[in-house]
Amino acid sequence: MRKPFVAGNWKMNKTGEESRLLVAELLPELQKISGVDCAVCPPFPYLVSLSNMLAGSGIGLGAQNMHWEASGAYTGEVAPKMVAEFCQYVILGHSERRAYFGETDEMINKKVKAALANGITPIMCVGETLAENEAGRTAEVVSRQTRLGLEGIPAGEAQKVVIAYEPVWAIGTGRAATSEQAQAVHANVVRTTLKELLGEAAAQAIRIQYGGSVNAKNAAELFAMPDIDGALVGGASLKAPDFVAIVQAAAARG
Ligand code: 13P
Repeated sequence: MRKPFVAGNWKMNKTGEESRLLVAELLPELQKISGVDCAVCPPFPYLVSLSNMLAGSGIGLGAQNMHWEASGAYTGEVAPKMVAEFCQYVILGHSERRAYFGETDEMINKKVKAALANGITPIMCVGETLAENEAGRTAEVVSRQTRLGLEGIPAGEAQKVVIAYEPVWAIGTGRAATSEQAQAVHANVVRTTLKELLGEAAAQAIRIQYGGSVNAKNAAELFAMPDIDGALVGGASLKAPDFVAIVQAAAARG
């Protein structure tokens, strides 16, 4: 009943020319696939041209970050309304933003609220570091990030959020979580926390993506798990055949 959702997080990669070539390559292939939502999340400068290319295609566009304030003296920042002009999605609280740019759960909560208020679907990232994982703190960390990220948001609104579980140790390492490991966190930590916070109906409606070294080979196995509702793909989203294969694997989920 949850439609799978696969998004490509391009991070800080591609030139303008390369970004248009990649979307031109993806478009006809992704349009052949049904039963799955998909989106690309390029760097800010390419959102305008790619939104023109994607218009009417059914393929979504997402930003990788945004500020929570509506406007003002925030040099270098991008406001929710600006993102909403071009995008349906925004990635919020990615572990790279938490680690390198000092984003806290409180800031991420403000951003999630601002996205919802502006009609943008937030993809809110949670996940433990290697040290936290080895110390047996995965459940505590992921549950806290989920709770604080959604704090003060009523269930009817919160159920529009997409959660991406991205264990930091699996990002860009080629060492994905096993499907069993990811399923356990999705079901026993994220969805259980959502249930406590928002109630059964909203918890069942919310899509939980897995992210961290997802590729064309391991995607089908991950998507076979009942609580893995898609993926947030980094490296493999930069190559059209790989991203298409991952979206196909999500469509075949059943
Ligand atoms: P990789 O797929 O490159 O491991 O990156 C995952 C990620 O951080 C997506 O947001």
